[in-house]
Amino acid sequence: MGAKLLCLCLLPALLAYYIYTPMPAELAQPWKVMVLCAPFRAVGHLSAVLDLLGLVHYMKGMRLITAMETVMVTSDENVTVTDTEFNNVPVLLYLPKRAPDGLRRAMVYFHGGGWCLGDAGMKSYDHTSRRTSNELDAVVVSVNYRLAPEHRFPVPFEDVYSATKFFLQSSVLAQYGVDPARVCVAGDSAGGNLAAAVAQQLLEDPEVKTKLKAQVLLYPALQALDLDLPSYRDNANKPLLSRLLMVRFWSEYFTSDPSLREAMASNRHVPAEAGHLLQFVNWSRLLPAGMRKGHVYAAPRPGSAALARRYPGFLDPRAAPLLGSDARLRQLPPTYILTCEHDVLRDDGAMYAQRLRNAGVSVTHDHAQDAFHGALLFISWPYELAVGHRLFNRYMQWLKENL
Ligand SMILES: *[C@@H]1O[C@H](CO)[C@@H](O)[C@H](O)[C@H]1NC(C)=O
Ligand SMILES: *[C@@H]1O[C@H](CO)[C@@H](O)[C@H](O)[C@H]1NC(C)=O
Repeated sequence: MGAKLLCLCLLPALLAYYIYTPMPAELAQPWKVMVLCAPFRAVGHLSAVLDLLGLVHYMKGMRLITAMETVMVTSDENVTVTDTEFNNVPVLLYLPKRAPDGLRRAMVYFHGGGWCLGDAGMKSYDHTSRRTSNELDAVVVSVNYRLAPEHRFPVPFEDVYSATKFFLQSSVLAQYGVDPARVCVAGDSAGGNLAAAVAQQLLEDPEVKTKLKAQVLLYPALQALDLDLPSYRDNANKPLLSRLLMVRFWSEYFTSDPSLREAMASNRHVPAEAGHLLQFVNWSRLLPAGMRKGHVYAAPRPGSAALARRYPGFLDPRAAPLLGSDARLRQLPPTYILTCEHDVLRDDGAMYAQRLRNAGVSVTHDHAQDAFHGALLFISWPYELAVGHRLFNRYMQWLKENL
């Protein structure tokens, strides 16, 4: 009896202790953020233990998050949803039900999850695809590309590229009633990385005649050369993406060999031969003073040439779109970039915005002071945050005006 009572009192205390994480003062609804993020932390800890015991690969453990969130996607009164394939790549296709008022807009969307997790059928992604389709009267293609660690770079990139290329054929656009002059690519986090990489690659593909109207990059990951940017320093332990988890995502995109992960964690993985690429991620030059936050610039120390020869992916612009040349960036379509203050990836987006502006591209850069990485996932019941709704509505508004 006594023991039971003790448990009854101790459990909530332990749970509260576990859930409690210090939150930046600017975050709205801090307690709600804490509670909503607790399952992510719990799955993270569980996966780390299982990985340590050699039972389950860390990323496969983390997929519990995807599994908990993935729903049977069905049509509703406004939107017909079809589970199909473009060039053998699975996609969810969202078509508005209302009679078309001429040709429609279209968006090709890539979900986030560090190239290792996530699914177009996750509740939050299904919800945003559905609302995008309904509110913009748009055809939405949400791509289920293959994931690392089973399928490493360049497979995820090649999957999204080949699905996009299939959709952009005039005959396919015509079949879905899409206006070829109103197609965009979009994605969040690792999906923003893929969207930026696809937009660049399309510029150099003589087989693709359709030009993108816009690209939408929501807190994207855009480079892995410097993992000690002010945003990495300031936000190493913020929800939902810690610095160590981002380092793990980047390294798993290329290999499970811990030597790459360790080199990246100490920011010592770019070989001297690739030193010329550092100009593209030089935050002392590319960040406005206000975003440097008083940090002092130090170039990453040179890493092992042998390691980079073994895993050259992180030097490839298809994995790191910030490494694209100015000549290439100049041809990109109007761009929407969202960055969040409390996010390790904040400076990736801000530096890309600057490079695109320098190249003469029209850029809308929205920076959310009160947001954290992944805030857009929280827009459907019961995982709802005011900040998620606000950020979603903001980029929908941009699309209404620019797509
Ligand atoms: C269908 O569209 C209407 C108008 O946009 C909206 O009010 C309604 O909630 C939508 N239904 C669903 C199931 O999303
Ligand atoms: C970065 O930019 C600063 C000037 O803002 C310059 O002094 C430094 O040499 C640059 N470093 C690299 C590695 O490009």
